[in-house]
Amino acid sequence: MLLDELKNIVGPKAWTNDEAALEPHLTEWRGAVRGRTPIMVSPANTDEVAAVVKACAAARVGIVPQGGNTGMCAGAVPDDSGTQVILSLSRLNRIRAINVQDFSLVAEAGCILASIQEAARSAGRYFPLSLGGEGSCQIGGNLATNAGGINVIRYGTARDLALGLEVVLADGAVWNGIRTVRKDTAGYDLKQLFIGSEGTLGIITAAAVKLFPNPGATTTALIALNSADDAVTLLSELRVALADRIEAFELIGSRAFELVRRHIPNTRLPFESPYDWFILVEAAVDPDQEELQNLLLQAARLGTIEDAAIAKSVQEAGQFWRMRHSISAAEKLEGASLKHDISVPTDRINAFLSSGKHRIEERIPDASLVVFGHVGDGNLHYNLHVPTGFQELATQIVYELVAELGGSISAEHGVGVLKKTALLTYKSEQDLNLMRSLKMTLDPLKILNPGKVI
Ligand code: FAD
Ligand code: MLT
Ligand code: ZN
Repeated sequence: MLLDELKNIVGPKAWTNDEAALEPHLTEWRGAVRGRTPIMVSPANTDEVAAVVKACAAARVGIVPQGGNTGMCAGAVPDDSGTQVILSLSRLNRIRAINVQDFSLVAEAGCILASIQEAARSAGRYFPLSLGGEGSCQIGGNLATNAGGINVIRYGTARDLALGLEVVLADGAVWNGIRTVRKDTAGYDLKQLFIGSEGTLGIITAAAVKLFPNPGATTTALIALNSADDAVTLLSELRVALADRIEAFELIGSRAFELVRRHIPNTRLPFESPYDWFILVEAAVDPDQEELQNLLLQAARLGTIEDAAIAKSVQEAGQFWRMRHSISAAEKLEGASLKHDISVPTDRINAFLSSGKHRIEERIPDASLVVFGHVGDGNLHYNLHVPTGFQELATQIVYELVAELGGSISAEHGVGVLKKTALLTYKSEQDLNLMRSLKMTLDPLKILNPGKVI
């Protein structure tokens, strides 16, 4: 009955229960979690999303919103009950408006992130959200997870880039919060409730986002370090010297690049000697003015860095970034690892890295660490390969250290199902109770992404 109703709402070409067609929608990106569904529907517009939600609410059936399914916490796949409906946003893929004077863009939730960047570029503007999955993730998914990526240091997270949202609520009503006004203190900022809520409080169908002037010429450098301690020193020196014109500042451990070279064709480092750590920095400074070059020479003289390769062309900069963005794919090809997406205040990164290594080595034999991340935001992907039987202990060591240092167990990937236990362990009872009451208020029937986050 419900299934027939859903098929009627979206029309014959926009639903499937075919096993092969469903396959990529049932498994999360790394293949760690697999679910089942009776149907996936792909509505064409907000009204159809609203009608789907209304029908599911009447039947008390759970809905799993799905964007590009690139999320790292299995939030976009159904559970294994075989009852939850997948609601794909991919057909809501229109850019509704670009306003160059207002530096804003309104896009439907299913727009691929790269296509929003391109639309902004074509209009002579810049949309700074950027991450490895940008060719397949969707703006709705980015906002639902409050995605970070490589440019947070200058422009903030998805949350900071949002101006307004259109959301289908749990009863099927449409909340029209699409506005582009920058300042608004008239009551609660409702859009912020839905951003980062991973589809558990509402289904984002469109968003208004901020655009920026194009940063212009940039200089990209790959820097070699012998100690990760020097990364934070270098970062703070560059921030001051360049007056925050740092677009990205990424830390990459040698093992992460080792996996990239092993699994991804045509990748090589521009250095002869082996080093333990690397920084990939991009700054909004003209390479011809040699501003970054001079600062790095000075850092080399002071012993903060060992070596640096400045990209001589856009192509070379692209090669450096290709290596950085291939780490997740290389890790996936290497085989299962424990992923920890943690953050600590930036001045505690060094304490985290040294104590983390020490505690892991002391208690877990043969552990191998793959560390990389957005060190400019205090966010590290602290991933571990450990022998069978040591997984739980490894994660406990990492998260306890994060808690001691005042950090977060999820910096940018969200909670989904994979971080639920950690959320319950490391958030205070008061935090959890506030989250539960918000969930009860906005989704009393618990039909929106059931079993995720809280
Ligand atoms: P999905 O995976 O489809 O969904 C994610 C969650 O949001 C799910 O809970 C889903 O139910 C919900 N959801 C999706 N769409 C909607 C909607 N319209 N309304 C309500 N809920 C919705 N993340 C970072 O933060 N920084 C990175 O640097 C980064 N790099 C990545 C690199 C690679 C190679 C990959 C594969 C992923 C990376 N990610 C990164 C993970 C990141 O969370 C996602 O890429 C992206 O933000 C999710 O978008 P998506 O459309 O794929 O969402
Ligand atoms: C990244 O920074 O590359 C991502 O967040 C993806 C990952 O952690 O694998
Ligand atoms: Zn990341």
